[in-house]
Amino acid sequence: MSKRVGILTTGGDCSGLNSVIRSAYLRATALGYTLVGIRRGFRGLASNDVSHPDYIELNETICDEDMLIKSGSILLSDTKWMSSEIQKGRTVDDVKHSIIDGYRQLSLDSLICVGGDGSLKLLNELTADCDELNVVFVPKTIDNDVNYTDYAVGFRTSVEVAVEAIENIRSTAKSHERTMVVEVMGRDAGFIALYAGLASGADIILVPEFKYDIAKINDKIRGNFQNGKNYCIIVVAESVEAEDFKHSEREVDGVVKYTHISYKGIGHYLSQKIKKAGFECRSVTLGHIQRGGETCVSDRLIGTLFGVEAINLISNGIFGKMLAFFDNKLRIIDIREVVKNVNATLKMDDKYINVARDLGVYIGEF
Ligand code: F6P
Repeated sequence: MSKRVGILTTGGDCSGLNSVIRSAYLRATALGYTLVGIRRGFRGLASNDVSHPDYIELNETICDEDMLIKSGSILLSDTKWMSSEIQKGRTVDDVKHSIIDGYRQLSLDSLICVGGDGSLKLLNELTADCDELNVVFVPKTIDNDVNYTDYAVGFRTSVEVAVEAIENIRSTAKSHERTMVVEVMGRDAGFIALYAGLASGADIILVPEFKYDIAKINDKIRGNFQNGKNYCIIVVAESVEAEDFKHSEREVDGVVKYTHISYKGIGHYLSQKIKKAGFECRSVTLGHIQRGGETCVSDRLIGTLFGVEAINLISNGIFGKMLAFFDNKLRIIDIREVVKNVNATLKMDDKYINVARDLGVYIGEF
């Protein structure tokens, strides 16, 4: 039976989103379904805004092979819509009705939502006690902080981009015999810092999960110089706190529960401390370059897998699920289950933490 399926991307963008859209389109077409691309995430689906629902009918020309490579989302994305709706005085119920209206106006049978932890929580809230929205969730985030999956779409490209940047920084660190502090993204999880730091041979990796001692950082730098390695690379995750473990500068935007936090300044803060100890030091913040770049093969593959399987779930009438990938297997997990414990962070016994320690990388927790 023919179906009309919607797809939207929501939250911070990343590489691999277009791979999901393309493969969902191809699989949907093979089954005789129509895939409707909803623009600007939930904002585009909600019918109360001017000229909404905001959508495009996907076709073969749009969903060509270049979609595997291109970062960003051809459907655009949005991070602040829910917060701005609440700020306008609308309730969660009002918002829910707008979403259901949009879904009806587009005559959708089901919806694929490609998002991160925040979007999953929101989706769960919007679909609570609602039988009408048939949703399948695909996890994407450069932060890799969604539980129940080893990898979210976009994480591995961001690590590749960070590694390439750190390698460029290493050559100048060597020439000038300096310490370079490289601040990477990752929100409240240290996955990007750990994976990129380890893959680029960093001497020190600081993650929000583990406390650190500035004296140990300086000892490590000193040790490098004493051993003839006249430079030092430090990779620090953006949400690592200042030495007194009070949060370094953050910009909080939006309303309670739907706030958006931007982290700033830990790289600069650390470089100041290191300079005070007598070392030449500079800091670099990689920032949003980690959200772009050519999509790496792993993200193309996982994006393609999730896109196809999302349509397969829909064709089997299975809804309310998140696609996941762990222990080398595709998994299908209840969204209600995931939201109970959605945020993944690094654990002390993570294999790469142990590897870093065994290599003599300083990774904190004193
Ligand atoms: O969640 C993805 C992410 O890139 C985080 O790593 C970062 O803290 C945040 O989004 C930045 O958000 P924005 O693009 O709104 O500044």
